[in-house]
Amino acid sequence: MASPVTEPEAVRVRVAGKVNLTLRSGRRRPDGYHSLSTVFQAVSLFDEVEASWAEPGRFSVRVLGEQADRVPLGDDNLAIQAARLLATTWGAAHPLGAELVIRKSIPVAGGMAGGSADAAGALLACAVLWDLDISPDELRTLGAQIGADVPFCLVGGTALGTNRGDELVPVLSRGSYHWVLAFSDGELSTPAVFGKFDEMGLGADRLEAPADLLNALVGGDVQALGHAVVNDLEPAALALRPQLGPLIEAGRDLGALAALISGSGPTVAFLAANEPAAVDLSVKLSGEGVCRAVKRVSGPVPGARLVV
Ligand code: C5P
Repeated sequence: MASPVTEPEAVRVRVAGKVNLTLRSGRRRPDGYHSLSTVFQAVSLFDEVEASWAEPGRFSVRVLGEQADRVPLGDDNLAIQAARLLATTWGAAHPLGAELVIRKSIPVAGGMAGGSADAAGALLACAVLWDLDISPDELRTLGAQIGADVPFCLVGGTALGTNRGDELVPVLSRGSYHWVLAFSDGELSTPAVFGKFDEMGLGADRLEAPADLLNALVGGDVQALGHAVVNDLEPAALALRPQLGPLIEAGRDLGALAALISGSGPTVAFLAANEPAAVDLSVKLSGEGVCRAVKRVSGPVPGARLVV
């Protein structure tokens, strides 16, 4: 680690949100988590995390952009937690501090890993700012201590996640897929959705690899992908937020190949056959008045990357 004088004053990282193309879940485990078999795809909706030097031991965060007022600024902020964890684990010999600025576009508690993306962004930005000798593998291991989605937010692309969703293998995926995201007012807490999932007695005994979905991705077959997407959390999210039912129906009626609650929701991702179909769907869906906002994105895109 070099002295602060020779280091960059600020490091900026761009980090993508995700949709889960499949999310199969087992029952609650003794550690409170659920074993998952999930295929993540990083999509082109990005937060930006900027880290600059602060007094040793001092960590602060400012949040700008959409829904900034909903992000906690104290110790429960995942980006702060990530920066502190990195500093205490890897910077023990030199007390470190950081001032973080997050520019948000990924919805807060929207099922797109917004908080985990900011934690991933903070890990990479601080590792570069502080010039730490840490490998991508070690960064991912650290990220998993902050949240199950953080390792995926670091790598991006398309990956199969097992265990809590934090053990990843890359998935071969041909071409680019076009999505229309429908954002809803309000949030859905991930623990609450998993709680409802348990209450409803859901949860598979065995989790198998999603063969149809993996084949669709290798072949770049958007129609087959539309048939293969599935989210086991959907009944629980719908039970907590019944208004999502009409939104899903509206998107299907307007020609989406598939409608999928993203993660624990409430964001709904509609798969379009191609880019013009996505433009058409987003215009029509905006006119229906069934959600707060719509946004067109595509995937896969890379995970956390430096902005130079
Ligand atoms: O990993 P993260 O801390 O972001 O997850 C938030 C909460 O979501 C967990 O505390 C747990 O209640 C639930 N969860 C789960 N099983 C997973 C991932 C998350 O039950 N595989």
